Amino acid sequence: MCKILIIHGPNLNLLGTREPDIYGKLSIARINKDLTALAKKNKVQIVIAQSNHEGEIVDLIQKAKGKFNAILINPAAYTHTSVAIRDAIAAVGVPTVEIHLSNIYAREEFRRTSLISAVAVGQVSGFGVNSYTLGLLAAIEVAKNVKRKA
Ligand code: DQA
Repeated sequence: MCKILIIHGPNLNLLGTREPDIYGKLSIARINKDLTALAKKNKVQIVIAQSNHEGEIVDLIQKAKGKFNAILINPAAYTHTSVAIRDAIAAVGVPTVEIHLSNIYAREEFRRTSLISAVAVGQVSGFGVNSYTLGLLAAIEVAKNVKRKA
């Protein structure tokens, strides 16, 4: 069975109460519940982690090598600053899908650069909680190595 590691970055533990106009009213527990149901429906196994610490996220990515078929990550604020997370993704070679609840390209200038996207398979940004479900579907396809003909 395909295994996908889902990583929520800093401050995402506060979802539901954190700037709900930008990030929505759903809690991380609720999002995780929806992701678990979607994974079950698609017959893949998921492991979910949240960390506010850059080094811990690097450790999670390093340990994913050989254990997971894909990673789904919302690197949150580290998207815009973390060479370490970018390097970890590049180093382990586990195909990674980057997601954001908000459209980072329609916000402040400093959010418009992602250090992660160049080492990700792709990015989903701006669909609120649906960014997670769309991102998980993308990660499932990547994990199963589904290729479609043009
Ligand atoms: C975010 C966007 C980031 O700029 C921000 O720092 C976050 C959340 C998003 O999901 O929209 O914490 O990754």
